[in-house]
Amino acid sequence: MRSSTSCTRWWLGLFFVAVSCDLPPPSQAIEGSVAARVVDPSDGILPRNGSVAIAVGGLLDPASLYGADALLRSGDRELGIVLRFDPATRVLIADPAPALLDPELDYTLHVAGPRDFEGRAMETVEARFRVVRDLAAPERDADFEAVTRVFEGCRGCHEGPTAALGLDVTDLRRTAIGVRPSEIAASQSSLRIIEPGHPERSYLVYKMLGEGPIVGAPMGAIEAPDEPLPRAAIATITRWIARGAVIPDPEQP
Ligand code: HEC
Repeated sequence: MRSSTSCTRWWLGLFFVAVSCDLPPPSQAIEGSVAARVVDPSDGILPRNGSVAIAVGGLLDPASLYGADALLRSGDRELGIVLRFDPATRVLIADPAPALLDPELDYTLHVAGPRDFEGRAMETVEARFRVVRDLAAPERDADFEAVTRVFEGCRGCHEGPTAALGLDVTDLRRTAIGVRPSEIAASQSSLRIIEPGHPERSYLVYKMLGEGPIVGAPMGAIEAPDEPLPRAAIATITRWIARGAVIPDPEQP
């Protein structure tokens, strides 16, 4: 009885140590800042269901997005926003979803706190918007065909029972979506191989870019595995991940 209690305590201790290792590093920003400016909408007119795109001059650390100070203000009203970052295009998306903005009001966007992997702070973004009617919803299924074409070059090493590290690009649901990478930098344990909605938390994106918190080699196509694919091809993957990494049923039952 006694020994089992102390054993439980020991395991609990280990659990808390493991949890505290997962916490993002303390938010002390290092001098010097990473450029940031709003690129879309460029005319200050935001669709009621739209989001704001901010071009960033570096690669943002996903851990710094969790606690970032990000909101849309209108008078006394404050709306929280979701931040997602696209490491391929270096665009930070400030998304007020699921809230719909009120077309009667003007809003001010405020984003402060994101940092790059070296700890440099991103410039604070403040921008005013007038809101107009809804945008059409983006097409989703067309994305996946383009995604399959990009992953074509990975299949030589990442397909079937002998796929490297178990990652099978023809079976993403089982081997990539929400799956913890087997190789991982200790400070980035919140990453998944693919995290739907969040390219900045998707380890595969950093492996494809050959930048950021990667262990091992960069990942290109079979003809030149160490050479990153063109940025536009990687952006096809990040755009699909940002829209929820949807896999249409007939493609992968
Ligand atoms: C020549 C073979 C080869 C090709 C081509 C290749 N990989 Fe890999 N991949 C590996 C090997 C070997 C590893 C493990 C060692 C390493 O990461 O350096 C790996 C590891 C990975 C990991 C880490 C998985 C984990 O669980 O940590 C990801 C993600 C990945 N590859 C994605 C890709 C993508 C995407 C492509 C295509 C653009 C690709 N790879 C092309 C051989 C390959």
